[in-house]
Amino acid sequence: MIKVGYISTNETRKLRFEVLWPHKEKMEACVLPTDDLTTTFHIGVKENNEIKSVGTFLKEINPTFDFQRQYRLRAMATDKKEQGKNFGKKLIQFAVEELQKKGIELLWCDARKIAIQFYEAIGFKSIGDYYEIPIIGQHKLMYYVIPKKR
Ligand SMILES: CC(C)(COP(=O)(O)OP(=O)(O)OC[C@H]1O[C@@H](n2cnc3c(N)ncnc32)[C@H](O)[C@@H]1OP(=O)(O)O)[C@@H](O)C(=O)NCCC(=O)NCCS
Repeated sequence: MIKVGYISTNETRKLRFEVLWPHKEKMEACVLPTDDLTTTFHIGVKENNEIKSVGTFLKEINPTFDFQRQYRLRAMATDKKEQGKNFGKKLIQFAVEELQKKGIELLWCDARKIAIQFYEAIGFKSIGDYYEIPIIGQHKLMYYVIPKKR
């Protein structure tokens, strides 16, 4: 059975390490300084209680965008063996509904070049040129305007 919902910071670490940051020395080092802020939340997709996809959502304004209520997506990863099964899409859909309930207007992220088509497929747009993030590679700024909750 597939379940999408809130997960703990600890539950994000394994996929962050395996999929995103294998250059770190260990799983426990796969942390973000904002992980445990009260405004930060982590979403996971589980199948039969095993984590298949993770993403972290934190309150951060990007001055490129003319919106007051912004959130940033970080550390989005789907288990390598499970990519292309719509786990990532389910995760973003769930998170966008939660953000909508909070009145958030815009979700943005630094998208890795290899993930741009994923974000486009789920409705994100990109803005500006590629930029380099050390160790990780080329990125583009991407965003999703969240419709107001009716
Ligand atoms: C990017 C990533 C999170 C996508 O997660 P996923 O669970 O594999 O994606 P999904 O299966 O939910 O894909 C959703 C849609 O995006 C499309 N898509 C996903 N990856 C794609 C790719 N590389 N190229 C083209 N389309 C892609 C799917 O075809 C699907 O489209 P559909 O709704 O029309 O069927 C995952 O591939 C991953 O972890 N990659 C490595 C880490 C990474 O780059 N993370 C992002 C950091 S910014």
